[in-house]
Amino acid sequence: MSRSDDRPWWQTAVVYQVYPRSFRDTTGSGIGDLQGIIEKLEYLTGVLGVDTVWLSPFYPSPMADFGYDVSDYCDVHPMFGTLDDFDRLLARAHTLGLRIVVDFVPSHTSDRHPWFAESRASRTSPRRDWYVWRDPKPDGAPPNNWLSVFGGSAWEPDERTGQYYRHSFLREQPDLNWRHPPLRAALLDVMRFWLDRGVDGFRVDAVQFMLKDPAERDNPPNPDGEGRAHQPLGAYDSQLHVYDLAHPDIHQVFRDMRAVTDAYDPPRMTLGEVHVYDPVELGTYYGAALDGLSMPTNFGLFRTPWTAAGVRAVVDGLEAGLPSGAWPNYSLGNHDDRRLATRLGEAGSRQAAVLLLTLRGTPILYYGDEIGMREAAVPPSRRQDPWGIAAPELSRDGCRTPMPWSAAPGAGFTSAADPWLPLGDDWKTRNVESQLGEPDSLLNLHRRLLALRRETPPLRAGSYRPLDAVPDDCFVFSRIRARQRVLVGINFSSEPRPVSLPGFTGRVAVSTHRAAEGSAVGRAITLRPHEAAVLVE
Ligand code: NOJ
Repeated sequence: MSRSDDRPWWQTAVVYQVYPRSFRDTTGSGIGDLQGIIEKLEYLTGVLGVDTVWLSPFYPSPMADFGYDVSDYCDVHPMFGTLDDFDRLLARAHTLGLRIVVDFVPSHTSDRHPWFAESRASRTSPRRDWYVWRDPKPDGAPPNNWLSVFGGSAWEPDERTGQYYRHSFLREQPDLNWRHPPLRAALLDVMRFWLDRGVDGFRVDAVQFMLKDPAERDNPPNPDGEGRAHQPLGAYDSQLHVYDLAHPDIHQVFRDMRAVTDAYDPPRMTLGEVHVYDPVELGTYYGAALDGLSMPTNFGLFRTPWTAAGVRAVVDGLEAGLPSGAWPNYSLGNHDDRRLATRLGEAGSRQAAVLLLTLRGTPILYYGDEIGMREAAVPPSRRQDPWGIAAPELSRDGCRTPMPWSAAPGAGFTSAADPWLPLGDDWKTRNVESQLGEPDSLLNLHRRLLALRRETPPLRAGSYRPLDAVPDDCFVFSRIRARQRVLVGINFSSEPRPVSLPGFTGRVAVSTHRAAEGSAVGRAITLRPHEAAVLVE
């Protein structure tokens, strides 16, 4: 595997998130499995052309939160396969030049984890302090007003010992106590377990929840009730999360994790799940000496209006706000958010593909977005997401439905009559096989963009500069490396837009409008309505 441009590998990577339950089922259970992912590795490398896969959790779990409630950090859920299957997956991926990043969930376990069983057994249990236990207030009320993201108090009373335990998410997901050194050591050992098997890094779940105010002060109310995240979070938005998120001590944890991943050759990557929209604050997650997370996730594009000014403001803000040497990343889809194609529509999905794969930073793609999977309608009787069962408008089921590979029965995903979540309505026409056969499909656009990115150093590692003298509803930027210049132009309007490109001569290498590809460009271009084009000198 190449270390192109002498940069850490993750800076030139394209990450693709696989949600294992929904990628490919080889057992007929209706739920995807590791063998299914192995069978599709060549799609990822040879057909699509990504180089890094992030696997959402596949560990033993009662599945209260579909694997983000881990009951054994160092094994594979039998529904997904075995550790041997994982090793085969990793070996095959590495043979194909594909890196594997696994999801690491350090902020909480399942309440079925043996550690929690021991911890809750008695106040004097040797593992009592591995979780966060507090006495009730004198009137029996919870210790403070902190809320669970998934609804209700963050504190659950436990009759056995008369104390409350804390849970930032479901009550089935008790928070681990990161202020307790033996717990810290155990979790760093979990990282080593997977690193020793050969994984290339971690997506680290919910890192802002790991350390909170040691004095456990009440959060103030949120005066406008408006969410501070990129999506509304229901009742959780009624407070300002001043004391229950991201105490500054968290940065020492990142440094400890970094010391673990840097001890491997080549160094491994941490992609921490961080919901922070101020680029300067986001920058602190890389560490003062770039010794923190390799990358904190950047959700900025999720909540910006899909306009030239909105998108440019996010990118320029990040470029200006991140510390020198901190490498950006961009995404527009994941297993927690409404599908990209539903949010942005057909034309927006095509523009998004161009944007994500040409900005300065690591793109993170979500499975199925390359074919424009829509948010699926999941009838109430088939709801799975516990969050969505409690608050249907927050359900994440619609973005987690099975990948349609073909128009064959079960969409080439499963032989079961009913997969765990229904297929999207349009799977017979919108699937991988059908899109491979259509030159203008979104999938083929992704393939052309990924191929161009691989062969074009400015796109992987070049500088970024926006062009100012362009129409208001166009976002145009350059990427330059070793005197080679690439220009990217996105027309957000439904009218043609002339854009002058001083001193530029080249050709349209890839466009959302394939007919434009190959045409010569000299000092100006007229972008078609909604067109996004990559111009190469
Ligand atoms: C963030 C994950 O992305 C989400 O799916 C999960 O429910 C929470 N963390 C809790 O682990």
